[in-house]
Amino acid sequence: MYSETLIDHFQNPRNVGVIADPDGYAKIDSPVCGDLMEIYIKVEDDEIADVKYRTFGCAAAIASSSMATEMILGQPLEVAEELTDAKVAEALGGLPEAKVHCSVLAASALHAAIQDYYAKHPQSAKAEA
Ligand code: FES
Repeated sequence: MYSETLIDHFQNPRNVGVIADPDGYAKIDSPVCGDLMEIYIKVEDDEIADVKYRTFGCAAAIASSSMATEMILGQPLEVAEELTDAKVAEALGGLPEAKVHCSVLAASALHAAIQDYYAKHPQSAKAEA
């Protein structure tokens, strides 16, 4: 049902934890199952300098959170913003249809944390053309 990559990220999740003074933070729960993810980001020079999370959810949610944070760590904000649940699922070797919402949780939490960063640092937000 799950790829070896997904099982590895579930059993050895990367970037788990909290950041005491994050530049951006979000807590999101899945409307599908009620599982929860908290994500913290530090931003330096418009790049994701650090990212940590805590996921209270299923194996696919934990693996999705781990993979999503690996994919954005060290990336410019505008690249991190473009991360989608489909890209996370693809990097994990695919997800069963019933588990697609688990990768949505990770991507949604990440986007919400970036929006929180922009709300707190409006000078960093991309100018609306
Ligand atoms: Fe809730 Fe996977 S079943 S996030």
